[in-house]
Amino acid sequence: MKAIVQERYGSPDDLELREVDKPVVGDDEVLVRVRAASIHPDVWHVVSGRPYVLRLMGAGLARPKNPIPGTDMAGIVESVGKSVTRFRPGTPVFGETIVAQQWVNGGAFAEYVSVRQDLLALKPDNVTFEQAASIPTSGFIALQNLRGLSQRLPGRKVLINGGGGGVGALALQIMKAYGAHVTAVDSTSKLGMLRSLGADEVVDYTREDFTRRGVLYDLIFDVPGNYPVSACRRALKPDGRYVLIGHECYGESGKRVFGLIPHFLTLMVLSRFVKQLRGPGVPMPTKEEAIAVLRELLETGKITPIIDSTYPLNEVREAFRHMIEDELQGKVIVTPAEAV
Ligand SMILES: NC(=O)c1ccc[n+]([C@@H]2O[C@H](COP(=O)([O-])OP(=O)(O)OC[C@H]3O[C@@H](n4cnc5c(N)ncnc54)[C@H](OP(=O)(O)O)[C@@H]3O)[C@@H](O)[C@H]2O)c1
Repeated sequence: MKAIVQERYGSPDDLELREVDKPVVGDDEVLVRVRAASIHPDVWHVVSGRPYVLRLMGAGLARPKNPIPGTDMAGIVESVGKSVTRFRPGTPVFGETIVAQQWVNGGAFAEYVSVRQDLLALKPDNVTFEQAASIPTSGFIALQNLRGLSQRLPGRKVLINGGGGGVGALALQIMKAYGAHVTAVDSTSKLGMLRSLGADEVVDYTREDFTRRGVLYDLIFDVPGNYPVSACRRALKPDGRYVLIGHECYGESGKRVFGLIPHFLTLMVLSRFVKQLRGPGVPMPTKEEAIAVLRELLETGKITPIIDSTYPLNEVREAFRHMIEDELQGKVIVTPAEAV
């Protein structure tokens, strides 16, 4: 099969389209013929090998253990392992190809990928393969960070910093579905998209500092984390909550060794003293639970994935460059079907 191969950590320019063996399907796995896969910041982390700590955390010390990048895909079941009960050949599915955290290659940038059955869900008929492939990792991050908050949201004032990105655009729609009043912050070019996704108010971060608007929020859901927590607390009600997602801006944050891990550890320590930083006290959803919730949200039209652009697999370098350098309006997709 054709696949994108990464032999070393470096840049997207090191990725090459090659002919490789089709994956072997384990007993509990499904072989999916990939129709679309999406690019997101965590794929960049493993392609670049940064922060360096990810190499010790399972990605591979000297080079990636799995040479084929990509974790999010949608496609059609080609064959199933002998213990698979939920899917059969010909079924359209979508999901994340990796079991644990996001910092490993998942083999999705290929014509075929082998995926554990519990990581997959049926693709709803009302979304395209591209739309379904754009959802899994961003949706999982949004759901795991919104856990335990659904009861707190109806009628409450929420601010999403970075609302126009992969995670923010889904969090926005999920929080609107929960009945929150949502203010979304992002760059000028994304404000129209934010309104079309249901934002009640929008703030252009190039013109306004949301921490100085004089408005207090019940929840600040912060993707870029570009303000100190002390500034964000200025815009929080005393019993409000601050949730940091964190973004390393493709290396621009300069935290090459440990990334944002020390910052998250500091927040954990502070949360013992500051109620606004406290977690919800409920367990994270498993990936199986999350993909089922995302499927339901897609099928009922509560979330509508926005696609910025689609590239053939052999133009994966250009696709990465577009994600890193340009102002996006939705997700960037790669499709093996066009790779010749
Ligand atoms: N916390 C967790 O549980 C967890 C788990 C896994 C991964 N992650 C991390 O989560 C992140 C997910 O990000 P994503 O997929 O949503 O990224 P994304 O698609 O790049 O979106 C980030 C958004 O933030 C906007 N932004 C940039 N600077 C801003 C500013 N100063 N003020 C307001 N908005 C700003 C960007 O707009 P521009 O176009 O202007 O740049 C973009 O719309 C990744 O970095 C990933 O590593 C977190």
